[in-house]
Amino acid sequence: MKKIILGIETSCDECSASVVCEEDGLLRVVSLSTFSQIQIHQPYGGVVPEIASRNHLETINLMIDEAMKEAVLRLDKLDAISVTNRPGLVGSLLVGISAAKSLAYVLKKPLIPVHHLEGHAVSLFLDSKETLNLKYPCLLAVVSGGHTNLYCLKTGPESWPLDFLKQSLIGRSLDDAAGEAFDKTAKCLGLPYPGGQLIDEKAKKGDPKKFRFPRPVAPDYDFSFSGLKTALALEAEKQKKSGQLDQNLADLCASVQEAIVDVLLSKILLAYKDLDCQSLAIVGGVSANSRLRERLSLQTPFFPFLKYCTDNAAMIAGAGAFRLKQGHFIEGELLLTLNAIANSDA
Ligand code: KG4
Ligand code: ZN
Repeated sequence: MKKIILGIETSCDECSASVVCEEDGLLRVVSLSTFSQIQIHQPYGGVVPEIASRNHLETINLMIDEAMKEAVLRLDKLDAISVTNRPGLVGSLLVGISAAKSLAYVLKKPLIPVHHLEGHAVSLFLDSKETLNLKYPCLLAVVSGGHTNLYCLKTGPESWPLDFLKQSLIGRSLDDAAGEAFDKTAKCLGLPYPGGQLIDEKAKKGDPKKFRFPRPVAPDYDFSFSGLKTALALEAEKQKKSGQLDQNLADLCASVQEAIVDVLLSKILLAYKDLDCQSLAIVGGVSANSRLRERLSLQTPFFPFLKYCTDNAAMIAGAGAFRLKQGHFIEGELLLTLNAIANSDA
């Protein structure tokens, strides 16, 4: 039976609401409204939590209104409301959670708390029939600004246990996330936050072999990126002193991007082979990276559509739809107790 879910995402600096329709396991994004706070945080070189939560408060109702209008839907027609409640910036999460709780309570609808990384995993299935045919075990890499995690998934999203993220985690970054490495690189090079997309663009005109940055090694299927950041910071300083930073900017971007992609691919491909995985999927903001996609073309991996790689509420609505089918939701007075969790393994 068809289900219509409103998803809400405010875990970091994107304020987003989306209506997703689920039917026979297929997720169709009916509407998606996102306000990105990137420009507001840019002067500070990163997200300022206090500013983020205050801005979510000003924007959340607008995003919900827009998403409902675009879907040409009345609130009482929704089957459930899902919201990111973990992990993330607590003040930001609370804004989305409060909005979702109010709606669910007043409308007497089920409320579904969603793990942000489960949302990223579900982004693969948004508007896609192809990914329903993923073969398992599937190696899933969640590569974002906050996480670089590897999961070995045994089944599709309809039968993911509640703690599947914890159960299937096989590797993670021991220090910075890959997206953070892009963002810190951008800062060192004088480029605006969040950096990843801009480095990707600039790198297209650069030589990835011009500068040799380290490829830090971590045990097993874990990752490390912090050594790379230090090497880049030293090189950027050298270039600045000699007045050659601008002239070498594209080469620096291409070289550091190549190092990040090398580190990612070394572990992704190792785990894929060792664990005899039958498919490969990459999600999260960094999965939008064009060099990563190019270098993986031989492995025919699955990626979400570009518009669903970075934070958005459609992935939260989609995850909510699968949980609703499994009966994992809260209702009535109980839903008022839902809280935000800053750090969460699962
Ligand atoms: O998934 P996401 O929107 O937020 C988190 O959950 O963290 O990911 C944001 C991250 C940022 O670090 C950003 O620089 C990176 O994704 N990113 C990219 C690209 N587009 C976004 N990194 C590399 N290449 C891109 N094209
Ligand atoms: Zn994210």
